[in-house]
Amino acid sequence: MIVNPMGLSLNPRCCSPLILVLSLALTWSGIARGETEAVGAQALNLLSSFAADYADAVRDGQVTDHRLYQQQKRQLQTVKTLVRELPNRPGRASLERSLDTLQQDIEARRDARQVQRRANTAADRLAALYQLQRSPIHPLPPAAEGARPFRKHCAGCHGLRGEGAERGPSLAVMQRSAQFSLYDFYNLLDPTADTLHGTGLGADLDGRQRWALAVLVASFPVADQLPPSADLAERYPALLALPGMAITRPAALPDDAAAALLWWRGHPDAVRALEHPLVRAGGLLQLAESAHRAGDTTGAYYKAVLAYRQGYLPLRAQLEKRDPPLAEQIRSQWSELRDALNGDGGSAGVIAASQKLRASLKQARARLEPPPERPAYVFWASILFAGAVIIGLLWWWQLRHRRRVR
Ligand code: HEC
Repeated sequence: MIVNPMGLSLNPRCCSPLILVLSLALTWSGIARGETEAVGAQALNLLSSFAADYADAVRDGQVTDHRLYQQQKRQLQTVKTLVRELPNRPGRASLERSLDTLQQDIEARRDARQVQRRANTAADRLAALYQLQRSPIHPLPPAAEGARPFRKHCAGCHGLRGEGAERGPSLAVMQRSAQFSLYDFYNLLDPTADTLHGTGLGADLDGRQRWALAVLVASFPVADQLPPSADLAERYPALLALPGMAITRPAALPDDAAAALLWWRGHPDAVRALEHPLVRAGGLLQLAESAHRAGDTTGAYYKAVLAYRQGYLPLRAQLEKRDPPLAEQIRSQWSELRDALNGDGGSAGVIAASQKLRASLKQARARLEPPPERPAYVFWASILFAGAVIIGLLWWWQLRHRRRVR
């Protein structure tokens, strides 16, 4: 029996990812795991740049750039070929259908937003189907770490601050940047998947350097912007944490969330300080729910483990002291969730268990909050208010008294 950090036993049926990957690798015929990843990453790359470019090729049902339009059609054809190269698995047929629909949309010169949404949905489906790792296994490095490799490998074409130069486009255009997730930037620098720069670029960069470059590229458009307000961090916790921060494309979000994510992902070091561990736990649970709903049960399980380990564990002892019944309730809800994730009861049970747990974690957060300190001005404002009331009463009393005297 494997003991995991949730403090719970890991049912072998749910399988360690290693076993899962190994068994899948053995059952998949023809194409090896590493190759699957490379082919999948290439297809993702093409889909994400396709989504970003489409608005420049077609506007209001008219082709505005014929060369780009033809290139986009070829690009999608390549995606379809790549997908066909991937091992066949349940779900691939539906992925291929969604690519067909995408192709029809382009032929019909449909609206850019719709086409982009479809392309991005297809990319997400592809990533889930082939379990492509789209989020770093370590915390995101700060943008500063990417400065040196950027000067060495990129600035010659893109300018020192990504402002663009003769040989490369600007990387500092907000609307453009919003079309890409952090992972899209990272993937673009994968020497085995790079479909934009050609071979060679980034061959001597390791994974961490590529994530640092992705963060730096994401920081260019927001270089002179102030951080978003703190309440947005409360409202969109999943965007502050991995994998949400790495895989979400800002353009797919409501305006305020998009603006916040554009800043946050360029400043992951500043974000870490913002995030309350229990908010992180809630965000990860939410991601676990969506992973489970999408059929990725292993991914869901590990997100839940992460939620426990990184979000709840640091505060468990404190909560046990402050509110033992609530701590006990949360303990049993974690094991309910574990059971639901291990069972074959489908997503409804998992989502119900996770939502109950999230509600309790929210409660725990309120219980652990220190009583709000009253700022000094509240005290002085009350004194002034009381003074004003007293003066008012005296005045009124005096007026009445004078009238009576007359
Ligand atoms: C030889 C010049 C050159 C170098 C070096 C180079 N790029 Fe590029 N880059 C380009 C060109 C040209 C494009 C546009 C390609 C296209 O759209 O087909 C591009 C596209 C991009 C894009 C996509 C931008 C968009 O809006 O679609 C990103 C991100 C990017 N490069 C990042 C980098 C990073 C990071 C490095 C360094 C590791 C780098 N580039 C090195 C020339 C270069």
